[in-house]
Amino acid sequence: MDRPDKILPASGKLGVLMPGMGAVATTFIAGVEAIKAGLGKPIGSLTQMGTIRLGKRTDKRTPYIRDFLPLAGLDQLVFGGWDVFEDDVYTAASHAGVLDQRTLDALKDKLSVIKPMKAVFDKNYVKRLEGSHVKKADTKWELAEMARQDIRTFKADNGCDRLVMIWCGSTEIFLQGGAVHETIEAFEQGLKDNHEAIAPSMIYAYAALMEGVPYLNGAPNLTVDLPAIIKLAEDKGAPIMGKDFKTGQTLMKTILAPGLKARQLGLRGWFSTNILGNRDGEILDDPESFKTKEESKLGVLEHILQPALNPDLYGDIYHKVRINYYPPRGDEKEGWDNIDIFGWLGYPMQIKVDFLCRDSILAAPLVLDLVLFADLAQRAGWKGVQEWLSFYFKSPQTAPGLYPEHDIFIQLMKLKNTLRFLMGEDLITHLGQEYYD
Ligand SMILES: NC(=O)c1ccc[n+]([C@@H]2O[C@H](COP(=O)([O-])OP(=O)(O)OC[C@H]3O[C@@H](n4cnc5c(N)ncnc54)[C@H](O)[C@@H]3O)[C@@H](O)[C@H]2O)c1
Repeated sequence: MDRPDKILPASGKLGVLMPGMGAVATTFIAGVEAIKAGLGKPIGSLTQMGTIRLGKRTDKRTPYIRDFLPLAGLDQLVFGGWDVFEDDVYTAASHAGVLDQRTLDALKDKLSVIKPMKAVFDKNYVKRLEGSHVKKADTKWELAEMARQDIRTFKADNGCDRLVMIWCGSTEIFLQGGAVHETIEAFEQGLKDNHEAIAPSMIYAYAALMEGVPYLNGAPNLTVDLPAIIKLAEDKGAPIMGKDFKTGQTLMKTILAPGLKARQLGLRGWFSTNILGNRDGEILDDPESFKTKEESKLGVLEHILQPALNPDLYGDIYHKVRINYYPPRGDEKEGWDNIDIFGWLGYPMQIKVDFLCRDSILAAPLVLDLVLFADLAQRAGWKGVQEWLSFYFKSPQTAPGLYPEHDIFIQLMKLKNTLRFLMGEDLITHLGQEYYD
């Protein structure tokens, strides 16, 4: 990615299209409206709350990121999407039970007018979901055409200048890339042939990219991790990035593991278990959807700890992840970690983490940041995989052959240096020799 000669201005309205308008999507939308109404602050959002140091420490230049970059403002966002349920955003947010009803009631006028479009959906890919608000067509190709038409209609009806699509839908069954995902031609033929390796999420991604719309993948679905989709994104000048929002337990893991490694402390085992009772939890109770999630969660430690380079410390790790559906908890997940570590001469120690988190409260600010950054990237002429957004994902996408960077501190440095690079500022290496000359 080259430094752009210019970045197009963030003028006009930015439409945010979400396949899947459940807990995460509605917490994001209602949250933005609440912030605009002065009912809360955008906690957890780097674009809204974060600062960035520019130049030397003695320069004392540390603006807010939102002031440093030409990002779209919250007032410019317009929301839409698709779901297999007809519920408007007010009703869906009330069902999700994440935000308190008083806040939702105060925003009812704004939320109840946002109604999902009929979904591209097939129960074979999300076994525990049943819904009737679904498009009907003979082929996946026709479904993609219908989704493209939805995108164009939404853009025109809402007077949007630009759009970003972000998948906030359910986790689909585990799929692997195959010949049908290799080239755009094979993928398009697969759409016409109703190829079973093309999941609904891929149809949305194809539709978005054909319309030149960036696509971000909040679930662990394969969707944009496919050569055909990557090529399409490059051809159409649209940024893409995935996959699986980094919240909750994996967020903790990528905060803690780099710390252990920094001090050269060994790891023998990491057992992670969760209870959650929202619809996401119910869907992940299906072994095929859980497998997709499990793959996404397990890779993290291996890449941070690099056992091949540190066999004495990390050569023999037992890593286990469990998710249990437990309805009484709703969205208020509890994640336990038992971490068996060892120190000097191999003496064992244990760390226990009990994170009583709120999944959608952690995910909503990531949706906001990703939308704003993807739009910025597109206005800067960047397209295809945006590895600098790894910070937000459990399974960050990379160029072929590159291992993903999972350490959250490296990810943050990479993100901030990318922003400095984008705006023509010096990169910060933390060398600091100049202060002692
Ligand atoms: N909340 C978090 O912290 C977090 C973190 C990482 C990933 N995720 C992922 O984000 C996604 C959303 O999570 P959630 O808690 O909002 O789940 P949710 O079940 O509340 O919402 C998902 C919505 O997607 C809809 N849906 C499913 N397939 C669809 C399709 N093909 N088209 C349109 N709509 C479809 C469902 O009807 C549902 O309303 C899940 O895949 C989850 O695994 C969430």
